[in-house]
Amino acid sequence: MRRVLTAVLSLAVLAGGVVVGLGTWLFSAATVSTAGDVGFANRLAIPPLAPSQMAGDRRVFDLRAAAGIHDFGDGPVRTWGFNGAYLGPTLRAARGEQVEVRVHNGLAESTSVHWHGMHLPARMDGGPHQSVAPGQVWSPAWRVDQPAATLWYHPHPHEETARHVYQGLAGMFIVDDGAEGALALPRRYGVDDIPVIVQDKSFDGDRLVAGNGFLNSVGTLGDTVVVNGTLAPYLPVRTERVRLRLLNASNARGYDFGFADDREFALIGTDGGLLPAPHTTGRVFLSPGERAEIVVAVRPGERAVLRSTPPPLGVGFSARFAGGADTLDILELRAAGTLAASPPVPARLVDVPRLDPADAVRTRTFRLGGTNINGRDMALDRVDAVVRKDTVEVWQVSSREGTPHSFHVHDVQFQVLSVDGRRPPAALGGWKDTLYLPPEVDFALIARFADHADPAAPYMFHCHVLRHEDRGMMGQFVVVEPGQEPAIPPREGTHPHHPPR
Ligand code: C2O
Ligand code: CU
Ligand code: CU
Repeated sequence: MRRVLTAVLSLAVLAGGVVVGLGTWLFSAATVSTAGDVGFANRLAIPPLAPSQMAGDRRVFDLRAAAGIHDFGDGPVRTWGFNGAYLGPTLRAARGEQVEVRVHNGLAESTSVHWHGMHLPARMDGGPHQSVAPGQVWSPAWRVDQPAATLWYHPHPHEETARHVYQGLAGMFIVDDGAEGALALPRRYGVDDIPVIVQDKSFDGDRLVAGNGFLNSVGTLGDTVVVNGTLAPYLPVRTERVRLRLLNASNARGYDFGFADDREFALIGTDGGLLPAPHTTGRVFLSPGERAEIVVAVRPGERAVLRSTPPPLGVGFSARFAGGADTLDILELRAAGTLAASPPVPARLVDVPRLDPADAVRTRTFRLGGTNINGRDMALDRVDAVVRKDTVEVWQVSSREGTPHSFHVHDVQFQVLSVDGRRPPAALGGWKDTLYLPPEVDFALIARFADHADPAAPYMFHCHVLRHEDRGMMGQFVVVEPGQEPAIPPREGTHPHHPPR
């Protein structure tokens, strides 16, 4: 009897051991660290500035989405891109300019192009209602009317955004203005002002694979970082200071950017423009869709590694399955033996006039959870919020569950009024269009919906974890003239396409 008991007990211990072992294996297999292991063998590609032509006073760009073959640095991979095999050129325009982008769809399926962070009419916004069929051209035009900022563009097709972005469709859109231009900041594109488009990928031969790990609730998390479509990149630096325009264009991964030697740098801008003053820090956290501009100083001859350390997702145990335990080497800055002088970062940057909650005509609450917002999944034919033109609103936003979400609003740049009732940290002291929502934290946002009333054309607000967006964590708002009723938007994106010109 005793022997049987012993045998049963040891079997139980063995089984328990297997379970614990499996758990430990899953737990550690869910962690990636590439710190110190990236060879930095490839020179960082710089997306070309998109050429433009003037048609009267209109600056006209051409973008053509198509499939191609791209070499990230380790052989050919089948990808999608704009005007090339992967990513797209950097569009650049000044505040006040009229722009038009002729978007050609050279893919075998419908897509759209959304101008993330841009204030513009909803019909030009490129969301799911502005679908562009294969072979068609869609030509949105608008007047750039917002402060200098690092914006971006990417497809936004209904329920298919994750796949289209992951295949490579994304690019930067830089807005310039006089206030930024008057500051002593590095601004020579590709020289001391560098676009840094960060994405995580997994490769299988010549294919990009959208992997979803065990227990993973956020969607694709790649094991390899690419910057501007370059694997293991290094950037030659010839100036004492360099400005990095960091864009998290990943589907799901958050990055806590810093340097391997923990050096400090100046955070000078966030999603919608420059901060009032530089913020000296050693870390900047970006969830999917967010941007930051930083200025970092280098010493002659040194190599400084931009590294992402485990991001502060705040989701507890499950962070590990959302990339929250990963350490990733991103980009090596290689300083030349002699560096050209760069002026110090100005102590004051730009005015960011504070919006006053006393001016708000309305407070709304948005709670992200499950696959939806406020309990409702995205529906193309339902308007979730009707906003009166030229009013200020306060939006209270939160997540109540232990999975990462980031909240993005089209049309406007907002300010963070408070975080759990307290003043926001310096990094949230400027214009934002996308915000990470750690669970159980209450954010109050404030925005002015200045113009572009159109009762029949909705803007989106959604989680920028692209799998969540695609699964329904998105809603629609329209901006209307006083007294106007919203029109029910059509079920499908059936707005007529502008003819090719
Ligand atoms: Cu960057 Cu609605 O998207
Ligand atoms: Cu957007
Ligand atoms: Cu989400």
